[in-house]
Amino acid sequence: MAEDLNIVTDVSKEVQYQTIIPQIEALIAGEPDLIANLANVAAALKQQFGWFWVGFYLVKGDELVLGPFQGPVACTRIKKGRGVCGSSWEQAATLVVPDVDQFPGHIACASASRSEIVVPVVKDGIVIGVLDVDSEYLSHFDAVDDIYLNEIVALVHG
Ligand code: SME
Repeated sequence: MAEDLNIVTDVSKEVQYQTIIPQIEALIAGEPDLIANLANVAAALKQQFGWFWVGFYLVKGDELVLGPFQGPVACTRIKKGRGVCGSSWEQAATLVVPDVDQFPGHIACASASRSEIVVPVVKDGIVIGVLDVDSEYLSHFDAVDDIYLNEIVALVHG
């Protein structure tokens, strides 16, 4: 496993994803522990993109429970169907929210958060958690993030 990440700047978002994805693969290769892998994925994404908040919620019973993340402290439990995270879980679909104030039921863990993308983590056809990314800027996420973040969660194992 590499000790330092190669972080690229001043290149397109696509190139940033294409540079960090093989490094994420190398980071989690051979490590069977899910929490360890989620922690390194969150850290690698935070280092590359500097997002306000990036991390995972894990399905436990009828709730999502806060998992490994990078950023300010966050809500610990989210019910199925609640907020962007609970809706992504319920629908087993990626949700891109350009303006969180326009999303009915959005859960404001931090008032600075303005836009968000949530990607379900699916294992054996079942949603086992979600990857949540928050930005302090409106409309920060688009189809490019949708594609590459789905590629990244598909790599997650443990
Ligand atoms: N905003 C999310 C809650 C999680 S925090 O943003 C870290 C939601 O509405 O589900």
